[in-house]
Amino acid sequence: MPPRKIIIDTDPGQDDAVAILLALSSPEDMDVLGITAVAGNVPLELTQKNARIVCELAGKTDVPVFAGCDRPLGRQLVTAEHVHGKTGLDGPSLPDPTMPLQDQHAVDFVIETLRREDAETVTLCVLGPLTNIATVFEKAPDVIERVQQIVLMGGAYFEVGNITPTAEFNIYVDPEAAEITFKSGVDIVVMPLDVTHKALVTQPRNDAFRDLGTPSGIAVAQMTDFFERFDKEKYGSNGAPLHDPCVTAYLIAPELFSGRRINVEIETRSDLTRGMTVADWWGVTDRPANATFIGDLDADGFFALLVERIGRL
Ligand code: BDR
Ligand code: CA
Repeated sequence: MPPRKIIIDTDPGQDDAVAILLALSSPEDMDVLGITAVAGNVPLELTQKNARIVCELAGKTDVPVFAGCDRPLGRQLVTAEHVHGKTGLDGPSLPDPTMPLQDQHAVDFVIETLRREDAETVTLCVLGPLTNIATVFEKAPDVIERVQQIVLMGGAYFEVGNITPTAEFNIYVDPEAAEITFKSGVDIVVMPLDVTHKALVTQPRNDAFRDLGTPSGIAVAQMTDFFERFDKEKYGSNGAPLHDPCVTAYLIAPELFSGRRINVEIETRSDLTRGMTVADWWGVTDRPANATFIGDLDADGFFALLVERIGRL
């Protein structure tokens, strides 16, 4: 099978960085047409810069990086420096990028790409708030049916929330954008906290990255060391969840993951539960299924894949 064409929409973020490194080290599985940055973990000015830092770390300076929306559709931007540090990529000391940022707006790049490529051959891998994606769908409804699939990190059901008691960060930041995406009719695969909280970077797993001895391996170990401090304290677990790489790993090895095809709706009206993903896991409504909601993964297989692929860089 030829590699799958993907666009990575992202707000790096250390875990976004690992997801991008996995994609860039897997050319037989994924052809990264471009990386589009969005405001999320940190403001856009930093996420677009961080995306270029990661490309340079991987030695893939030919992947075009675009800046997209700098704020949610209708709300103030909420960021997560308390998790990711001031730069969003705290941990390793990486040089400022020299590769250019593309002039074109990320939203226009996605629209143009979807119109140019054969219908249903481009997958959107979404690692941050859904602002860019919803803006694409609002601006160019004709491209919606041309999307092959959206694989996104966001939401939670059994794990409930990480930024509020009921909401996961990516959905919370821009619930209106999430609602547009989930109602679009596109085939969606969701990596909620229910699965990402099982992808824990334990000490031996982090040592395996460090032991690669390469710039990428060492940087991944330093990044996870950084956000681990926060997550261990918060969850009392023996490692931090590596959320976003679940998206790119799914595209390489879907057999590592399992879930259910269910209905997922987004809460946009309540202040108390803003951004909650109301997931009908038990099928108690007759609302039609609109997403594959992943609940479990083979964590050892997932980390083996990450180490093997990132070790190539
Ligand atoms: C998600 O929020 C961000 O902090 C991470 O990069 C991930 O995409 C986890 O809730
Ligand atoms: Ca992210």
